[in-house]
Amino acid sequence: MKVGIIGAGMVGSTAAYAIGLLGVAHSVVLVDLDPAMARAQAEDISHGMPFASTTIVTSGGYEDLAGAEIVILAAGVGQKPGESRLSLLSRNADVFRAVIGSILSVVPDPILLVASNPVDIMTTVARRLSGLPAHRVIGSGTILDTARFRSLLSRHVGLAPQSIHAYVLGEHGDSEVLAWSGARAGNMSLDAFAAYAGAPITEDIRRQIDDGVRYAAYSIIEGKGATYYGIGAGLARLVGAIVSDGKVVMSVSTETNGIAGLPQVAYSIPRVIGRRGVELDLAPDINDAERMALERSATLLKETAQALGT
Ligand code: LAC
Repeated sequence: MKVGIIGAGMVGSTAAYAIGLLGVAHSVVLVDLDPAMARAQAEDISHGMPFASTTIVTSGGYEDLAGAEIVILAAGVGQKPGESRLSLLSRNADVFRAVIGSILSVVPDPILLVASNPVDIMTTVARRLSGLPAHRVIGSGTILDTARFRSLLSRHVGLAPQSIHAYVLGEHGDSEVLAWSGARAGNMSLDAFAAYAGAPITEDIRRQIDDGVRYAAYSIIEGKGATYYGIGAGLARLVGAIVSDGKVVMSVSTETNGIAGLPQVAYSIPRVIGRRGVELDLAPDINDAERMALERSATLLKETAQALGT
């Protein structure tokens, strides 16, 4: 399968690199306002492919998207130190207004993967501008936050992150919700396993992990100016789930069903990803406090999207 990536900055080019290392696509084409930079990124990445896969990585113009079935939207500005994701909205909405028509003129019916922040509202913007069905306009949402959550839990309880099933829900941002109550470790509840492993999850540990997930991006951006390895790998995993029809559960952000009673807006819950895009919404097992926090998060996104006129 051919994948297009709009935006050859650090997120887009890292996604291309991760897709190549995993070998989940036949080819990737990088498109950017700066063709020389896109060409250099593609050439550098392609030199790594002989060590990993047969994925072909090139750069080009919109016309070179022809034949792509997935297009990743990684164009736009990123957070500056201390800047919230929501503050990027108007600038990145303008970017999407400029690029989505050009994509669809070459690829009329793609699956769009949205990575630009604020990703939940940008997913709504992409759906409005493209007119594509909700299940084919997929925001990376909290897949990265879920990975961060699992990574920190893994270190605390001494279990592989792949054996920890814990999700972050709602906004990919400050109002996100860590779904502690339904978290599992292997075949046990997280709390039961943690106690069994001699690493109980105290209130202090819970607060440390919550902060470590919620504010990870701010801390990384302070240190190196941007984040890209985590999101790049997450986008590559999403591509792999689509290409292989993997029926993989990932906490992506879409305007599909969501949870009954919550605002109709793109926010993250666990969803089944396959060849068609989002194939099923899985209402998460959450307690009353988590449900109220999720309602607050979805309402914030709805009000912010309405303020933008989407
Ligand atoms: C982060 C960016 C991708 O959370 O929003 O690192």
